[in-house]
Amino acid sequence: MAYFSRIWITLFTAILFIGLFATHAYADIKLEYHYKFIGLKNCKMCHSKDKLGNQYGIWSKTKHAQAYKVLASSQALKYAAALGVKDPQKSDRCLVCHTTGFKAPKKIRKKINDSDGITCERCHGAGSLYAQKMKQIAKERLSNPKGDSKTAETTRLIKPTKETCLQCHVREVVIDGTTYINPAYKEFNFDESIKKVSHRRK
Ligand code: HEC
Ligand code: HEC
Ligand code: HEC
Ligand code: HEC
Repeated sequence: MAYFSRIWITLFTAILFIGLFATHAYADIKLEYHYKFIGLKNCKMCHSKDKLGNQYGIWSKTKHAQAYKVLASSQALKYAAALGVKDPQKSDRCLVCHTTGFKAPKKIRKKINDSDGITCERCHGAGSLYAQKMKQIAKERLSNPKGDSKTAETTRLIKPTKETCLQCHVREVVIDGTTYINPAYKEFNFDESIKKVSHRRK
């Protein structure tokens, strides 16, 4: 619990708020960060336990965990060359969909390592507030397994949906007026894709 009093102090504002209007080929996103990211390690701390469903273990075997590393592959360099990008691991034009906390202010993304790729907080939102309330969220969930936890909502724990995927699995995305092209675009089928990354508790 000492750990938590530490994040409590750094809690302030902080959230990733994304307004999104997406079709399969195109997304228009406004990035707004208010809450702080607490970093992959701090989700792993609890969510690598089998009792909780080991979401960390499952995630680490998905391509999302490799999303930064893949930017060093020879295929990545080919895509990059075609778009006039020199180093994909250093270019916003690739990092935007291959990392977490894109363009978030420094003090909010201190705990993010680009090398971790697309982490929990990219889909579920920055955790500084909701991670404080996990006990309460768990209680509400367990007493009402089918329902939503009110606390999850009020602490901005995002329940990702198809729309979350369509922030990246699109041909191109426009963020605050800048267009980013996905050179590896493949038709996205949510029902098929979710099976490959799902970490629902059995
Ligand atoms: C102190 C331990 C702890 C930490 C740290 C923690 N969680 Fe949790 N989390 C839990 C517990 C316990 C539950 C409830 C599990 C259940 O539903 O059986 C939970 C539930 C969740 C849920 C499901 C909520 C719902 O309403 O369905 C999500 C999503 C989640 N955590 C994501 C995260 C993410 C992302 C992080 C890191 C930013 C994180 N958690 C950090 C313990 C933790
Ligand atoms: C709009 C979001 C987006 C942008 C911008 C983006 N990517 Fe990706 N990238 C993706 C998605 C989504 C996938 C997974 C594709 C799939 O399998 O459906 C992917 C997969 C890849 C892969 C692995 C699959 C393959 O075809 O080899 C490479 C390599 C890659 N991207 C390189 C890049 C490079 C280099 C850039 C920058 C020039 C870039 N990406 C920019 C979203 C993006
Ligand atoms: C690519 C987006 C994405 C990433 C990355 C991601 N999640 Fe999730 N998460 C989802 C979706 C979608 C669901 C809804 C249930 C499912 O998995 O099918 C979910 C559900 C959950 C749940 C609820 C599971 C249940 O049984 O109700 C927990 C807990 C959770 N995620 C924790 C995590 C943790 C911890 C990480 C990082 C190690 C993580 N997630 C990474 C998208 C993501
Ligand atoms: C932040 C951008 C982003 C988000 C959000 C995202 N993805 Fe991805 N996804 C990627 C990238 C980039 C890759 C390719 C990584 C690699 O090849 O190393 C990928 C790869 C995948 C793959 C592997 C594709 C293959 O051909 O093997 C699946 C499946 C997938 N994502 C499903 C999902 C689902 C389902 C969601 C929503 C719950 C989601 N993704 C959300 C960027 C994203």
